[in-house]
Amino acid sequence: MIEAESAPIQGEHKEVLLDIAEVSLAFGGVQALSDVSFDIYKGEIRAIIGPNGAGKSSMLNVINGFYHPQKGTIKYKEEVRKKMSPHKAASQGISRTFQNIALFKGMTTLDNIMTGRILKMRRGLLWQALYWGPARNEEIINREIAEQVIDFLEIEAIRKTPVGKLPYGLQKRVELGRALAAKPDLLLLDEPMAGMNVEEKEDMCRFIIDVNEEFGTTIALIEHDMGVVMDLSDRVVVLNYGRKIADGTPDQVRANQGVIDAYLGVSHSN
Ligand SMILES: Nc1ncnc2c1ncn2[C@@H]1O[C@H](COP(=O)(O)OP(=O)(O)OP(=O)(O)O)[C@@H](O)[C@H]1O
Ligand SMILES: [Mg+2]
Repeated sequence: MIEAESAPIQGEHKEVLLDIAEVSLAFGGVQALSDVSFDIYKGEIRAIIGPNGAGKSSMLNVINGFYHPQKGTIKYKEEVRKKMSPHKAASQGISRTFQNIALFKGMTTLDNIMTGRILKMRRGLLWQALYWGPARNEEIINREIAEQVIDFLEIEAIRKTPVGKLPYGLQKRVELGRALAAKPDLLLLDEPMAGMNVEEKEDMCRFIIDVNEEFGTTIALIEHDMGVVMDLSDRVVVLNYGRKIADGTPDQVRANQGVIDAYLGVSHSN
């Protein structure tokens, strides 16, 4: 086995937002994650890389409460998590985009982005029916936030377009918008640039950097394009067959022989 190297950023005091300790996850006989430990600092962009089937998406699904690991602990905002549902994760400030776009194709950009607010809505539907006033205020606030997101992502021109009619790159941007509408503290992005052309990738990179810098949002990013990983991330964790094989700065990871053998030296597909 290749020795994992741990690399704290030197000379800086970093606050840990998420701490994953010895997490294992199996589906029947398939061991998707084996004893994986790493942390995510508040405010950083943390890349998760590795070959196809390495367990990257499974890890994001554990973080957002969709999968429940058989072993290990997860500490988020200083609290060790008990049972976690995606709904609860969202209400605690974790939001995500998916490897395969998960949008309502027949709905407009604006309405899709509004769905990102739903988990944030405090009032239930019955309550809304009974007390129209306060629910209406909430609706106005949600709409304002959705419009701010549209502005930020420069997609005003398509706000009324059904997303199914949009080119792939823009659909990915709308999905980012849906995740941003929840105003997350921790944003999980599963291959946000997969299948994009160079120009679309550059746009997406810029938006990811802007989200991180302007809102201070912590980001966990799965990405196959090493150029993007090098440009964007503060630290990189490398998975292979469900195990962590390296952890460090982009330069450290790129120079790690185990990583080169397992991943960087071989071709892979998105
Ligand atoms: N819901 C599931 N049921 C059964 N097996 C699963 C499930 N989800 C993932 N797996 C398996 O777990 C392993 C890790 O899959 P995962 O999707 O996390 O990999 P990945 O690193 O995201 O790969 P890719 O780069 O192809 O997206 C694979 O062997 C996969 O087949
Ligand atoms: Mg995946």
